[in-house]
Amino acid sequence: MLGIETSCDDTGVALVSADRRILAEQLSSQLDRHAPFGGVVPEIAARAHLDILDVMIGEVMREATLDFPDLDGIAVTAGPGLIGGLITGVITAKAIAAVHRRPLIAVNHLEAHALTARLTDPDLAFPYLLLLVSGGHCQLLMVQGAGRYRRLGTTLDDALGEAYDKAAKMLNLGYPGGPAIENAARSGDTKAFEFPRPMVGKANCHFSFSGLKTALRQAIQRLGPKSLEPPYINDLCASFQAAAIDSLLDRTARAVEFSKDMSEPPKALVVAGGVAANAYLRTRLSTLAAGADLPLVVPPPHLCTDNGVMIAWAGVERLALGLVDDLAVRARARWPLDPDAEPALGAGVKA
Ligand code: KG4
Ligand code: ZN
Repeated sequence: MLGIETSCDDTGVALVSADRRILAEQLSSQLDRHAPFGGVVPEIAARAHLDILDVMIGEVMREATLDFPDLDGIAVTAGPGLIGGLITGVITAKAIAAVHRRPLIAVNHLEAHALTARLTDPDLAFPYLLLLVSGGHCQLLMVQGAGRYRRLGTTLDDALGEAYDKAAKMLNLGYPGGPAIENAARSGDTKAFEFPRPMVGKANCHFSFSGLKTALRQAIQRLGPKSLEPPYINDLCASFQAAAIDSLLDRTARAVEFSKDMSEPPKALVVAGGVAANAYLRTRLSTLAAGADLPLVVPPPHLCTDNGVMIAWAGVERLALGLVDDLAVRARARWPLDPDAEPALGAGVKA
């Protein structure tokens, strides 16, 4: 299965076999092109994918010594994401599928994050409880099967990765902020600043990080320029991270309790998405999972951030169920995994 990922600022291409072998993979980051603008510029992203995508596909095919007619299928991220980049990937995949008469599989980017753990852990069976934490999404989902999701909670404002990125911007730590904050936090004191734990104790499984972001901004303003220097910067990062993860864990613990009463309770707790690369989060989650008697499954960090491997694997899972798309399929900027989920009031969504 060829996998193509172009939904944001990483171009990912990979070949994955149905027996879980990664035959070849390539990942190209556009960070340096977006850095001068302090965030991802959609038009630059789409053009950068276009510049490099066919070259990368040629390289993985050569590396695996495969020709296009050998493929079982072509899987491509069709949404959600930045529409220009998505179209670049989808058109490329359609061209290969049409010319070589191979199946096309339009993959939901969130589904690819959700299923990655089944590539790295062959014993992981459905259903499982998924904590999906990335730059664009922050959700708790019951994963019942490929294409079958029930959303338990979502964020009312920022995604967790987005909160890390905004915090890093305030502290001049650059983009992406997650790894920079995590690193600075290692030598900081988690109790140096008293930040709020948003949503803790609320009788739902939703998230919110904007209040915490405001508290951080106020602390930086009170400290003035010394906030950007050690030991303050490390203490700010450590206290911010501890507050964010305390809140995240409270919400996850609530979902664990809630899911235990379902007709089919989860067999594992899985964490996916870019923030799952965070070692502090992994340690805290393993304690929670052990207390709940659930195995914790976390893919290796390089498969948690965006990549082509996860798209190819989602393609393998969907093809096995006969979930193939026709050439009329379109890229979608918005594409919820659980279209029946109640809108989270306050999330900027009209009820
Ligand atoms: O899944 P991903 O690569 O892209 C999206 O689909 O959004 O996630 C990227 C996000 C960024 O916000 C980045 O700051 C965050 O994941 N991230 C981290 C870490 N590594 C990446 N956040 C916290 N700690 C990390 N170590
Ligand atoms: Zn992602």
